[in-house]
Amino acid sequence: MLEVANLEVVYNSVVLVLKGVSLQVPDGEVVALLGPNGAGKTSAIRAITGLLEIHDGEVTKGSISLKGKELLGLRGEQIVQRGVAQAMEGRRIFKDLTVEENLMAGAYTSSQAHIRQDLERFYDRFGVLKDRRARQAGYLSGGEQQMLAIARALMSRPKLLLLDEPSLGLAPKIVADIGKLIREINEDGVSILLVEQNAAMALDVASHGYVMDNGKVVIDGTSAELKEDKDIQEFYLGFGGDGAEEKKSFRDAKLYQRRKRWLS
Ligand SMILES: Nc1ncnc2c1ncn2[C@@H]1O[C@H](COP(=O)(O)OP(=O)(O)OP(=O)(O)O)[C@@H](O)[C@H]1O
Ligand SMILES: [Mg+2]
Repeated sequence: MLEVANLEVVYNSVVLVLKGVSLQVPDGEVVALLGPNGAGKTSAIRAITGLLEIHDGEVTKGSISLKGKELLGLRGEQIVQRGVAQAMEGRRIFKDLTVEENLMAGAYTSSQAHIRQDLERFYDRFGVLKDRRARQAGYLSGGEQQMLAIARALMSRPKLLLLDEPSLGLAPKIVADIGKLIREINEDGVSILLVEQNAAMALDVASHGYVMDNGKVVIDGTSAELKEDKDIQEFYLGFGGDGAEEKKSFRDAKLYQRRKRWLS
């Protein structure tokens, strides 16, 4: 289990962006982390993977433990060795390298013996990547680049996979494919923290979800509970509101204000 407790994150020594975030990812589960732009979702992932420092950020309070062992203070590659991998927002694949070179880059902590075996396993699952293994990754479609980013993260054989908005900018059919892929990876025994703005997809694959806003967790519950939540329906699922194109700020919701008082 990943356990984040009372996490505070500050950038440039002054800007407080996470204000006491607590969340859990039980072993074997998919947990969704939802929330509007700037809520702090990516900052939470950076804290977990030890990548805040390169963004001039730091954890100023709280703890992050995996199976009871503290991750805070470890370097990025040590955290990978503990079994945590991520596919970053914006995909961040190496566009000038081939598909296969990208996958090899994800395996930098694995033994050579595993690499060939893992590549073949991926090529069975991601047929489209097999066909394009010698192609420059920059020429892949958006959906294929996302798949490559996820496949690359899996090359380190993680127990916990962190995905930052894998559906971003993809067509609905491709989003459905990504959702299916996430489910399959989870069925192979990998726990997943899924950061998304696409709540419909995320709550379909996750067992539990958290909604963040302005550096705090404002709602959490099972996926079934969250799907029934009026605010989530209005702001994320496009019911009763202006639809997905014009999401209002979460802060505008009366119900949300009420909850916020109740939570704080
Ligand atoms: N390197 C940085 N230096 C200073 N402030 C930052 C830095 N990175 C992010 N922030 C700020 O921290 C806050 C949280 O940003 P973060 O990227 O974690 O949010 P997010 O929920 O991932 O948003 P999005 O949905 O847009 O990806 C924002 O106000 C953002 O401007
Ligand atoms: Mg983000």
